Amino acid sequence: MSNFWKKLSRPILALAPMAGITDLPFRLICRQFGADLVYSEMIMVQALVRDNQKTLEMIKIKKSEQPVVIQLGGNDPEAFYQSARILRKIGPAGIDINMGCPARKVAGQGSGVALLRDLERSYQIIQATISGAGKIPVSIKTRTEIRSTDRQQTTTSLDLLEKIKDLPVAAIMIHGRSFEAPWIEEVDYEFIKKVKDKFSGIVLANGGIYSPEKAQEVLQSTGVDGLGIAHGVYGRPEIFQQIKDYLQTGQYHELSWPEKRKIILKHARLAFKLKGSYALIEFRKQLLWYIKGLKNAKTYRQDLVQLETLQEIQEALEAIK
Ligand SMILES: Cc1cc2nc3c(=O)[nH]c(=O)nc-3n(C[C@H](O)[C@H](O)[C@H](O)COP(=O)(O)O)c2cc1C
Repeated sequence: MSNFWKKLSRPILALAPMAGITDLPFRLICRQFGADLVYSEMIMVQALVRDNQKTLEMIKIKKSEQPVVIQLGGNDPEAFYQSARILRKIGPAGIDINMGCPARKVAGQGSGVALLRDLERSYQIIQATISGAGKIPVSIKTRTEIRSTDRQQTTTSLDLLEKIKDLPVAAIMIHGRSFEAPWIEEVDYEFIKKVKDKFSGIVLANGGIYSPEKAQEVLQSTGVDGLGIAHGVYGRPEIFQQIKDYLQTGQYHELSWPEKRKIILKHARLAFKLKGSYALIEFRKQLLWYIKGLKNAKTYRQDLVQLETLQEIQEALEAIK
């Protein structure tokens, strides 16, 4: 596959990777509501090369969701190489490397954002992935910076970009918070602009984009090629279309409840069809996000988290006026 990144129209609106959330059904829904590309959940390379059954399920993709980027996580260059070779047979539009996850079980093993502390290893991982990926373009996702374990030194993603400048990395999604920053901390869009100024490939800004207005502000202040949106799509996959409408016309449509209900049911049916009945248990958290903002949301929560079948979900949603 050729470099799809270059063919996307700007600004590129991407569904950012989220473990436990950006599975195949949700990615399909987001594509239908305006996402220009979608990232998978993080796939751990060790599990993939071991043929772990659950992991093999997680790399299933559908033509209709393309362009889809499958994200890999881990810290062993050889396993990245092997994983990229496996993905070649699956055929995602792109392969991404997770260099931003702060979760203890990931960063504590030297993966995710901890890779920023070891630029040599990062280089090897990116090089190995590119070599295994063949023609599939490779991107990275990272944060602004991380401190060394003794807190004496700081490595930024600008240092990383300097280190890997001879590698053909197609794109970077940059989350404008450091490893140490708590969730609530302001996103450093000025830093994101510096990444845009330094990197010649495609730059997607990520962090804190919850509305079309914010999307426009970030695009204008950073000059990036596009945006990655995570929390902002909770219960609101239509945000991608809303951003597009807002950028073009200065206006966007807030969905009515019947319109929203249609999306929820579509999502639930897809989840059931593609992943089976367990997917409906996982779907409960999505249901709660979808109804957030409804007048009496609190009163429905208790019932919604007990639903088990499509029929029950449909009836419960129809009862909400
Ligand atoms: C539940 C959850 C799971 C996430 N999983 C991943 C992941 O697998 N890979 C990754 O690179 N980032 C992951 N992230 C980080 C998001 O992609 C994104 O960088 C972060 O949420 C900031 O963007 P936002 O402000 O739009 O939410 C995850 C975030 C959340 C909330």
